[in-house]
Amino acid sequence: MFGLSWRKRWNPSGSLAIVTGASSGIGRELVALLIADGCRVIAVARRAERLAALTDQFGDRVVLLVGDVTDPRSVDEAIAIIERSGEGRLDLLVNNAGIGGIGRFDAADESRLRQIMEVNFFAPAMWCRRVIPLMRSNRDRHPVICNIGSVLGHCAVPLKSEYCASKFALHGLSDSLRTELAGDGIAVTLVSPSTTRSEFFDSLVGTDANQVSRSIGSWPPERVAQATLRAIKRRDNETILSLGGKSLVYTDRIVPALLNQILSRSVKS
Ligand SMILES: NC(=O)c1ccc[n+]([C@@H]2O[C@H](COP(=O)([O-])OP(=O)(O)OC[C@H]3O[C@@H](n4cnc5c(N)ncnc54)[C@H](OP(=O)(O)O)[C@@H]3O)[C@@H](O)[C@H]2O)c1
Repeated sequence: MFGLSWRKRWNPSGSLAIVTGASSGIGRELVALLIADGCRVIAVARRAERLAALTDQFGDRVVLLVGDVTDPRSVDEAIAIIERSGEGRLDLLVNNAGIGGIGRFDAADESRLRQIMEVNFFAPAMWCRRVIPLMRSNRDRHPVICNIGSVLGHCAVPLKSEYCASKFALHGLSDSLRTELAGDGIAVTLVSPSTTRSEFFDSLVGTDANQVSRSIGSWPPERVAQATLRAIKRRDNETILSLGGKSLVYTDRIVPALLNQILSRSVKS
């Protein structure tokens, strides 16, 4: 009786999107899928040569924005691009750019926490704040803010304290904004991938080279991007990806004390 037929879907065709972290991994794959579905994309990342490959492939369906997501000038530039396009509206923001770090909290210096929080939390918060007016004026097209979180934004594990903190913060922001923006017709979708076989582990900050990340099963970035686009089109509130990811999150919800014990034993003092 209470089906989901009332729920508005997001339509990529003819839409304009911003995807941060578009130079590799999940972001790059998502740009390709969005463009294949008829969307135009402003692709944001720091590595110009990687972004340039997107233009080679997709021509003027993609607009490159070489910049750091933590720099307010990158948002200014994105908004200037939207205004120059003559439409002054935005249909989708994907806050995907992210970094990680592995190692004991007490052995790291303050900069690991600061860097990870800047990229994974303060930057998405800044991008959300700045684009909300462009989405509010565009409610007929059912705009979406999609934040790429992590299963570690639902269940915290040892040796990734800064990353967990940043993704829990993004989770909280997403849940709060979702209800705050519902009346404006803006959906907030939190996508929480588990381990993904991207370049993510090649650029860990403040991390010893011998640190490894263990997880059950992993997905290729294409599969994460497909699941992300599905969640965006359905304007889902949240989606937790992969069997391993779901197992971790639901074990934590059902038997948190047991999981705590298991995780504590996994750490060598
Ligand atoms: N890989 C995993 O196991 C995993 C699991 C759960 C969640 N996630 C999340 O998924 C998202 C995408 O990660 P991925 O796996 O696709 O990793 P990735 O291949 O390393 O991609 C990260 C992207 O973020 C961009 N980026 C990083 N710092 C930036 C900055 N300061 N300014 C602008 N762009 C920046 C990188 O581009 P440039 O270096 O060119 O700037 C790159 O395009 C992240 O939010 C990550 O936390 C990943």
